[in-house]
Amino acid sequence: MGFKVAVLGATGVVGSEVLKILEERKFPIKELKLLASKSGGRTIKFRGEDIKVEAVSEEAFKGVEIAFFAAGGSVSLEWAPKAAAKGVVIIDKTSAYREDPDVPLIIPEVNPHHLSQHKKKGIISSPNCSTIPMVLVLKPINDAAKVKRVVVSTYQSVSGAGLAAMNEMEEQSRDFLAGRELKRKKFVHRIAFNLIPHIDSFLPDGYTKEELKMINETRKIMDLPDLRISPTTVRVPVLISHSEAVNIETEKPCDASRARELLSKAPGIKIVDDPAHALYPMPVDCAGKDETFVGRLRNDPSVKYGINLWLSCDNLRKGAALNAVQIAELFL
Ligand SMILES: NC(=O)c1ccc[n+]([C@@H]2O[C@H](COP(=O)([O-])OP(=O)(O)OC[C@H]3O[C@@H](n4cnc5c(N)ncnc54)[C@H](OP(=O)(O)O)[C@@H]3O)[C@@H](O)[C@H]2O)c1
Repeated sequence: MGFKVAVLGATGVVGSEVLKILEERKFPIKELKLLASKSGGRTIKFRGEDIKVEAVSEEAFKGVEIAFFAAGGSVSLEWAPKAAAKGVVIIDKTSAYREDPDVPLIIPEVNPHHLSQHKKKGIISSPNCSTIPMVLVLKPINDAAKVKRVVVSTYQSVSGAGLAAMNEMEEQSRDFLAGRELKRKKFVHRIAFNLIPHIDSFLPDGYTKEELKMINETRKIMDLPDLRISPTTVRVPVLISHSEAVNIETEKPCDASRARELLSKAPGIKIVDDPAHALYPMPVDCAGKDETFVGRLRNDPSVKYGINLWLSCDNLRKGAALNAVQIAELFL
């Protein structure tokens, strides 16, 4: 019973999280292929069985029905068409196809109706790890009061840049506290005890590609091509979970208590909002959890109808692996 499934990038932080979630959610699998840049004789335990890691190849996709791609955009651009030609349905977590008009960009709680578009190329894209939690919050508020403008600042953990980035922050932190010289490879500046307002490359207008992804992806997922969004994305020395300060202006009245009521009923959201008792979302609390934690909900008196909120979300789970597995479940 089940499907022949492949995970490309199985040895990476996102790929490993996919395997953990496939196991947790008892996804129906009859055979599992683990693919990476090279085998290197590695094995990974899945449902108590040691499975060999293979180097990616066309042969490896033979008979595969569903493949999760988490090995970088250039790898997806090279291998997705080859795998799709063999009838594989690809769920891609990279940015390679997110803005392709023939590829649906899916958050199952928000736009499952876009899924059928996958038939064009056999590829389904999972959005950026900062876009997903923000759109989960915007959807119920837009349905009720029509979102007019969004200003968002992100605080993105180092795991968003992969395994090597996590190791770099830990090593720098140890060296810094020991008074040793800091080594830097993955980030353009030291990340330990620092903030870097630079994720992905800069564009001529002064925005970064990460910020442009948040704008274009949100517009595509919510079918709002003119939605006004102004993002600033920052890398912070946190291991897992992204956080965001979000200011939302609406066409119709929607104050903080109305928003809290709407969000408390929305799928994938958990309200943590009792400042008097120091209760609000923090990365350490939502790491390993499926929900997007929302709090610090308050009115914005500087505009006619506006609210501010703060959210935290595990970027490896709902920001990547969980969203991808939920797409596969939707697909099934
Ligand atoms: N981290 C996040 O929060 C997040 C969220 C959303 C999307 N993503 C996207 O997911 C992708 C993976 O990110 P990650 O954070 O998991 O990175 P990572 O920890 O660096 O893992 C990269 C994985 O890709 C494999 N790989 C690298 N080059 C390859 C090649 N030429 N051919 C085949 N496999 C190759 C690696 O295999 P080896 O072990 O053989 O090197 C490893 O399994 C990236 O595109 C990223 O943008 C990440």
